[in-house]
Amino acid sequence: MQKFAVFISGNGSNLQAIIDSVANGEIKAELSLVISSTDKAFGLKRAEKAGIKTLVFSPDNYTNRQSVDRDIVIALKEHKIDFLVLAGYMRLLTPYFIKEYPNKIINVHPSLLPSFKGAHGIKDAFTYGVKQTGVTVHFVNEKMDNGPIILQDTVKINEEDTLETLEAKIHRVEHRIYPQAVVLMADQRLKVKGRRVTILEKPEVKAENSQ
Ligand code: GRF
Repeated sequence: MQKFAVFISGNGSNLQAIIDSVANGEIKAELSLVISSTDKAFGLKRAEKAGIKTLVFSPDNYTNRQSVDRDIVIALKEHKIDFLVLAGYMRLLTPYFIKEYPNKIINVHPSLLPSFKGAHGIKDAFTYGVKQTGVTVHFVNEKMDNGPIILQDTVKINEEDTLETLEAKIHRVEHRIYPQAVVLMADQRLKVKGRRVTILEKPEVKAENSQ
């Protein structure tokens, strides 16, 4: 069984959806570790309640980004983590980190990428006045909100929507599709070729001497 870690910085509602999905057997992988960039994240409480080990790596305790990432990678290796799930983790991973886990890090973003990248995807789409926005789950590469797209789903913005109602709609979609993407990672059913991600019916069996 694959082992994975979830990275958070805040509320952790996506973490909760993933915890629930592991508990009900949909995600067939072990959620071994929750990593937070701050000890203030409410998501840490959710993890503790579910009996999952938590670690906090606060950037305040480091002089540069790479040294934070180096310590995180050491912890991930110690726990034999196979893949990583970013869920509201408010820090950009360094290229060093990403090279350690090629096509093994996924993120959820609250807009239809490549529109409305950045930390305010929901508000930016709302302010722009688009009639449809949505949620994107993608692999993480060196650029922000840029990696190959795994799943997307749309959310309509109606006349009567406010930023708050739109946020609620977006989060509902996130909580539905992010666990689905974790299932695909856990079952090793995602194949990446360039920017294209194919969902396989079943995992590819690697030849014995392949790398
Ligand atoms: C979500 O909207 C996610 O798309 C974005 O950060 C938010 C995290 O929310 N990357 P939560 O901490 O999972 O509740």
